[in-house]
Amino acid sequence: MNRYLNFEGKIAAVTGGGGVLCAGFAKGLAQNGFKVALLDIDRSSAQEVADEITSEGGTAIALQCDVLDKDSVVKAADAVKAEFGTVHTLLNGAGGNNMRGNTTEYLTPDLLKDPDLDPLNIFNLTTEGFQFVLNLNFMGTFIPTQVFLPQLIENQEQASIINIASMSSFRPMTQVPAYSAAKAAVANLTQFLAVHLAPVGVRANAIAPGYFMTKMNHALLMDKETGDYTPRAQRAINHTPYKRFGVPDELLGSLLFLCDPAMSSFVTGVVLPVDGGFLAYSGV
Ligand SMILES: NC(=O)c1ccc[n+]([C@@H]2O[C@H](COP(=O)([O-])OP(=O)(O)OC[C@H]3O[C@@H](n4cnc5c(N)ncnc54)[C@H](O)[C@@H]3O)[C@@H](O)[C@H]2O)c1
Repeated sequence: MNRYLNFEGKIAAVTGGGGVLCAGFAKGLAQNGFKVALLDIDRSSAQEVADEITSEGGTAIALQCDVLDKDSVVKAADAVKAEFGTVHTLLNGAGGNNMRGNTTEYLTPDLLKDPDLDPLNIFNLTTEGFQFVLNLNFMGTFIPTQVFLPQLIENQEQASIINIASMSSFRPMTQVPAYSAAKAAVANLTQFLAVHLAPVGVRANAIAPGYFMTKMNHALLMDKETGDYTPRAQRAINHTPYKRFGVPDELLGSLLFLCDPAMSSFVTGVVLPVDGGFLAYSGV
């Protein structure tokens, strides 16, 4: 009989660990016995999370790391190994959207006639803006995966990569073409890695959160002036059969399941929606 959730002495590296969802992930991992390394471009936010974990009796360190800079990730990976040992779970959480990859919902005939009606028209999207979002989400997943792979391979059947996909991995969201393309690529990479790494015993899966209110999407979902939901937020809730946003703790069960070889040793290449039914709902 397997003993489930036996993570004592296991080591996790969490990129984007200072962010809302990944702070929740990191705390959940620590509460279940993982030693956690929080890697974030914003060291102070990662340090706050590490301090919270430590004050609750867990083990965590914060490291400054830019997931788009391979040297920076190599330095962080070496530091994790020196402090804790080789990593069992790599959680690629750094990511998010940026206005520079956004456009209007539709290219309407009016907008076509007069693009100045809305500066977010598709013609104004810049290559740099689009690429920034693609890079952060996609290369920001690939680079840490490549760098941490030797450590994961050392831990073989105990090792797993967990990427963060999105509802837009399955079908693009309106207004966020760069983010949607990047998250579709993250899902695709997850399947690639599952196959590629099968012979060395490293599993690769992804979690696809539905709508969760965080720093990243706060501006899109809450009206600054009134404090009410924006029409977009209301539409997201209307399209979620549970009729609410998710709370970060609701992602933890899926994370722990995917980390634990006792529970998921034959699960690899999965993109698991945690979405209150969003993906299943056709809208009718
Ligand atoms: N919030 C949602 O509803 C939702 C839904 C689906 C997927 N996601 C995904 O979940 C993940 C976490 O998002 P979140 O909502 O917690 O966002 P967040 O903005 O709270 O956290 C993102 C973290 O990544 C860090 N970061 C940014 N660029 C980095 C870089 N180059 N190197 C290292 N760290 C960097 C930021 O400093 C921040 O701490 C992202 O991949 C996001 O796309 C979020």
